[in-house]
Amino acid sequence: MAFRVLINGQPHALDCEPDMPLLWALRDLLGLTGTKYGCGIGQCGACTVHIDGAAVRSCSIPVNEATGAITTIEGVTGPVAERVLAAWDAHQVAQCGYCQPGQVMAAIALITAGPVDEEALEATMSGNLCRCATYMRIRAAVREAAQ
Ligand code: FES
Repeated sequence: MAFRVLINGQPHALDCEPDMPLLWALRDLLGLTGTKYGCGIGQCGACTVHIDGAAVRSCSIPVNEATGAITTIEGVTGPVAERVLAAWDAHQVAQCGYCQPGQVMAAIALITAGPVDEEALEATMSGNLCRCATYMRIRAAVREAAQ
């Protein structure tokens, strides 16, 4: 069965089962491997993408429910994304790097929705896990990008 999706501004027809997680469609059908698999049950945030600008966990959204404009780490653009990526570089956030696309996508959605105070920062970013425990650098980068 074919499902029409809009990803990074490009229309695609996905030939797959309706309950295929969006994460697998992105990675296995479209080769967009910047979005990572961590837990597969919506708990770690590694698979975070945007749908209509909101951060969502692509492992937990079936393709047939992915009806909005989807943006992956490969497709983020604009001033907020530029500020976030620059802050990530400035604070040398990444260690192993695996969770970072999800962290960046969560941060962009948070700052775009703004304003960002410590409570909002913690509430959002605490949902994205990092095995290397780069949390202090992540939060410093988000604070800087949010200014
Ligand atoms: Fe989706 Fe962990 S892989 S939340």
